[in-house]
Order: sequence, then C-alpha cells, then structure tokens
Amino acid sequence: MGSQSGDISSALKEALASLGTAESPEAVRSIVSQAVGKKGSLGALKSSLGSIADIEQRKQVGAAINAAMTELTHAADARISEMSTAELLSNIERDRVDVTERALKSEVAARLGRTHLVTQATERLEDVFIGLGFQIAEGPEIESDFYNFEALNMPPSHPARSMWDTLFINQDPQGSVLLRTHTSPVQVRVMQEWPPPIYAIMPGRVFRRDTPDATHMPVFHQIEGMVIDRNITFSDLAGTIEAFTKAFFGSEFTSRLRPSYFPFTEPSAEFDIRRPDGSWIELGGCGMMHPRVIRAGGLDPDEWSGFAFGFGIDRMAKERHGVADLRDMYSNDVRFLEQFA
Ligand code: FA5
Repeated sequence: MGSQSGDISSALKEALASLGTAESPEAVRSIVSQAVGKKGSLGALKSSLGSIADIEQRKQVGAAINAAMTELTHAADARISEMSTAELLSNIERDRVDVTERALKSEVAARLGRTHLVTQATERLEDVFIGLGFQIAEGPEIESDFYNFEALNMPPSHPARSMWDTLFINQDPQGSVLLRTHTSPVQVRVMQEWPPPIYAIMPGRVFRRDTPDATHMPVFHQIEGMVIDRNITFSDLAGTIEAFTKAFFGSEFTSRLRPSYFPFTEPSAEFDIRRPDGSWIELGGCGMMHPRVIRAGGLDPDEWSGFAFGFGIDRMAKERHGVADLRDMYSNDVRFLEQFA
C-alpha cells in the first residue's frame, strides 16, 4: 500500500495539527467533517479506494483510512472536552466570590471563633458534676403546663405559679403549652424514665417575661441537679453544693444556704456563694424534693428521697469572669466576647 499509507498518515497529521490550533468546538467539528468529507483529505482517499485493483491491498488501505478517521474523531472529542473543562474553569474563576476576611488576604492568621462564655460555663459545669458522679439529661424547651407547674406541686391557680412570669404558646386549650420557665420540669421527666438511684444534671435554655437588666435576661440558662436515692438528707445537699462551689469557682469561694420557698422542695433554700472579698451573691434555689414531686415522677416517696437544685448559668459565667452586666454577654460584640478564650 506504499504511497497510500504515506498519504493517509500525512492527511491525519495535518488534520490533527489543525485540531491543536482550533479555538472552538465548532471549529473542531468542521475540521473533522472537512477531512472525512468526500472532498477532504481522508474522504478523497476513501473515494479512490475503487481504483486499487488488488483486493487485499484495497482492504488494507481501507482499514488504514478507517483507523485514521477513528483516531481523528477521538482526538476531536478529546479536544472538545478539553475546551469545555477550560471554559468551566474560567467561568468558575470569573464567578468566584471572595469570602475570606481582610485579615486573610493580607496573610495575617485567620481569626478563629471561640465558644460563647455561657457555653464554656455549661461545659465546665458538666465536667465538674460528671466528676462528682452525675449524668446529663435534657428536656424540651416547649413544655406542657403539667411538667412546668402541675407535676411540681403547683396545681392550676396555685399562687406560686406567679413566681415565674410565663410566656405561653398560643395553642388550645390556652395556657396548656408554654416556654419552660425553669429546668425543673426535667426532674419529673427523668424520674419517669430512669430507674433510681438517680444522680442527674439537666442544663438548658429557659424563658421568662423578665425585662433585661444587669442580672436578668428574658432568655437565659439554668442547670438543674437532682439526686434520688435512699436516705438522702439535707446535709448531702449542702455538701454537694459546697463541693461544687469549690470545684467551679475555686477553693477561696464558699457557699451558704438561706431558708426560702419553692413549691417543689421542702425544706427549700436559696444558694449563695461568698466571693474572696467577703461579699455574697445568690446563684440559685434548692431543697429536699417534695414527696408529691417524687410521686409525680412515678416513684414511692416512702422508699426514695432526694434533693434538687437549679442555678442560673449566665449569672455564674458573669460571676466567674467578672462581667458587670448580663446584657453584654448577648450584645454579639466580638470585641467583648473574644476576651474570654
Ligand atoms: C427556679 O427557677 C427554680 N426552678 C430553682 C430550683 C430548682 C429550686 C430545684 C429548688 C429546686 P429561680 O426562679 O429563683 O428558681 O431561678 C433560679 C436561678 O436562675 C436564679 O437564682 C438566678 O441565678 C437565675 N435567674 C432567674 N431569673 C433570671 C433571669 N431573668 N436572667 C438570668 N438569670 C436568672
């Protein structure tokens, strides 16, 4: 097939070379159709096959032309896909949105976020109580009247309900669903689910119709604690609170319990801590669990006794870090928040 084979390879070479310089898929396609068309370099060779007398030679040349055409088509496909990838990349580059901060651009280290100081306090409280042998439980933020009040020894119209300015959900029957005003409803939920003895802490967000000021927020955080076991006494409660105060605030802090009133504990107390300068600050309420609450949790108060406490986490974080005003912690001013690594 001598001269034909040279013609085929030079026709192929020429077509491949033009593919390399083609700038659009349309140009690639037209190079291919020109080369394989009747009048094109490869097409013309194919048309002239009839003039080869020797059948064997005709077959060989025909096969060589087909192979060249196939090679050209594949090269064309590869060139087209190369072009679309390049186009895609250039579109991506063109449409790129720079979301890096200015600091990154000038190659200063990236600014890392950090956990909020209330989250830090919650995690530390959890660590301290886990160290004292407690387990963590959680309950819903949208709560029923039953768990928030009734099961806590506050039947409908009980005057103590007014101790918590409640935000109700607009749902019938009106007053039956609310944003929990404290974490105490989780006590009852845990008793209903966990077999005693129970040593549990229940951190979470709570809601009240309180006007924001230096020590109040309408949305804040509490950590509830509950112990249910046999022969639990008030001195177990006082000892736990003192152990916790030293572990959380430091050995230079101490605690005291002041007589108080909560419908779900009897006797009840307010828990204060003493700062190293001798001043006192109230952190939460506590007391021996009322037999009615133990019963609402499905346990027999003649067999099981216990204590419970509920502290404001935001106030603890405020105290631990010497923050003057709770509202600062929720101002979202990064300059303020980033002081507390
Ligand atoms: C209660 O909520 C009781 N459930 C506590 C309790 C639990 C008593 C178990 C007995 C047994 P009180 O309403 O006092 O109690 O709130 C507890 C703590 O939450 C307060 O001492 C305070 O630290 C914090 N607190 C109350 N209101 C706010 C508020 N608006 N903003 C920030 N912290 C608050």
